[in-house]
Amino acid sequence: MPVIDKISANTEELIAIRRDLHEHPELGMEEVRTSGVVAEHLNRWGIETHRDIGNTGVVGILKGNGDGRTIGLRADMDALPIDEKTNLPFASKNPGVMHACGHDAHTTMLLGAARYLSETRNFSGTAVFIFQPAEEGLGGARAMLADGLFKRFPCDEIYGMHNSPTGKPGKVAVKPGQAMAGADFFDIHIRAAGSHAAMPHQSIDPIVIATSLVQQLQTVVSRNTPPTQPLVLSVTQIHAGSAYNVIPSDCTISGTMRYFDTTLANKVRDRMRSLCAGMASGYGIEIDIEIREIFDVLVNDEALSQVLLDVAADVVGKDNVAVTADVVTGSEDFADMLRVIPGAYCTVGHEGTLPLHNDGFFLGEEILPVGASIYAKLIEQRTALTG
Ligand code: NI
Repeated sequence: MPVIDKISANTEELIAIRRDLHEHPELGMEEVRTSGVVAEHLNRWGIETHRDIGNTGVVGILKGNGDGRTIGLRADMDALPIDEKTNLPFASKNPGVMHACGHDAHTTMLLGAARYLSETRNFSGTAVFIFQPAEEGLGGARAMLADGLFKRFPCDEIYGMHNSPTGKPGKVAVKPGQAMAGADFFDIHIRAAGSHAAMPHQSIDPIVIATSLVQQLQTVVSRNTPPTQPLVLSVTQIHAGSAYNVIPSDCTISGTMRYFDTTLANKVRDRMRSLCAGMASGYGIEIDIEIREIFDVLVNDEALSQVLLDVAADVVGKDNVAVTADVVTGSEDFADMLRVIPGAYCTVGHEGTLPLHNDGFFLGEEILPVGASIYAKLIEQRTALTG
């Protein structure tokens, strides 16, 4: 693959950076060491560095050799609450925390581009390197936006990428338009009445109510949303009880909704509230439902999706880039940034086929110079344009 020679020459350094980050993963909003490593590298390469944006976020600013546009590149830095089971020599040294989504590689690829661009400056305009905290549902993009990310560092276009364990190194894919789902997280608190388990008639059993409510929630997608419109409603947690002989007084149900149409999402939210209210009224108890909007629908700008594919094709070859037809019901908080600045988001395939978020997740490091080269070429090609 024709990655940029000067980036390819730094592959060993990229691998070292990635393995160091992998060994020291940090959860969202706790990326103190990680953001320190990022800032240290940017400083060493003479890149203007801004820290503590959206908590632990870092922004690097690099001006080229003349006037031009400003292009933003974004990588995420956080890890997941997973106990790593890879047995790699550079496996996590932080028990219960693992880079199981490859954000260590995303950060490394952006650093690789930053180093190359700082050494070559073969571009006009300005590169904005955005290192974001807390992508995994903890609102890192929103935190950076609330901290004035694009007011302080206005960008004309922004781009991001995610590794994809397809077992197909260097395959780049973009879904123009709506690409990834918007996501809610919800918690339902059932406050009923406990009793001795041998005398259930003295209780209002929250477990019976909860299991029934879960079944009712399953009818929302099957009976209230059009079959032609994708929407997912998954209950993922039920918490109640602490003994064999006690009917508890409380039960909590939690889960997530994924959607592409906000009107339909609102209908589903209403339906969920109605089912809870109906159940509360029927049993004479209190049921509170809290629905939090976590991610927006990710929308790739149609024209800039093609730009991203064309630039990627320069690196991986025309045969290795593809427009994806299907939306993904996963979510990604780069969506929040794309609502403010037009841009596009792609996936880059690599060796390894265990899914993201798996405790044995393996990332093929051949992706590092590939991603760094795509980022670098985006800056070289997109800053020079006018208008
Ligand atoms: Ni991820």
